[in-house]
Amino acid sequence: MQEVLVLYYSHTGAVKQMAQLIARGVEKVPGMRARLRTVPKVSTVAEATEAEISDSGAPSVELKDLEECAGLALGSPTRFGNMAAPLKYFLDGTGALWLKGAMAGKPAAVFTSTASLHGGQETTLLSMMLPLIHQGMLIVGLPYSEADLMTTQGGGTPYGASHLAGANADQPISEAERRLCIALGTRLAEVALKLGKA
Ligand SMILES: Cc1cc2nc3c(=O)[nH]c(=O)nc-3n(C[C@H](O)[C@H](O)[C@H](O)COP(=O)(O)O)c2cc1C
Repeated sequence: MQEVLVLYYSHTGAVKQMAQLIARGVEKVPGMRARLRTVPKVSTVAEATEAEISDSGAPSVELKDLEECAGLALGSPTRFGNMAAPLKYFLDGTGALWLKGAMAGKPAAVFTSTASLHGGQETTLLSMMLPLIHQGMLIVGLPYSEADLMTTQGGGTPYGASHLAGANADQPISEAERRLCIALGTRLAEVALKLGKA
């Protein structure tokens, strides 16, 4: 059994729900399992102490989770058009893996959630790809054979899955967004299985 690491940060729960859908998509592929992990919050005043089990349910990620996975799905809320600091903070601590090329050749996909429709879903997704490309990962997006990409009234992009949560962070994940999350998880798992880079 090979695993896809579904690594996310979520403050109000939207990205966490997306992560669970992506995990469902991963597990549609025989022989593939999803490992859900999150990152602790960071503070501008002092380093936050790292909780073993985070508030949002999934255990906190460790470097070995990245080393052991055959593929990675990375999810973050959009913060000022970019990924959230806790996830960036964790990625900035992966230099040892970069040095030994531990992630090189493994596939990766990205997902995000925003308050507003034009509030930076695509910039966030594209900027989340940058550190993954430096790590040598192979980016997997969504193809337009996913019909929802043409018709969605909310999230869903060729760069990765996305969700429009609304100004009060209370819009449920739409049917189209849900299907695209699952499709992204399945596509990533299929590629990971073929590459067999665990
Ligand atoms: C500091 C901060 C910055 C944000 N920046 C943006 C933004 O640039 N564009 C946007 O549409 N939403 C922005 N949001 C809203 C979140 O992206 C949105 O509520 C998201 O769905 C939260 O995901 P979560 O429920 O997984 O935490 C921001 C929220 C915070 C707290």
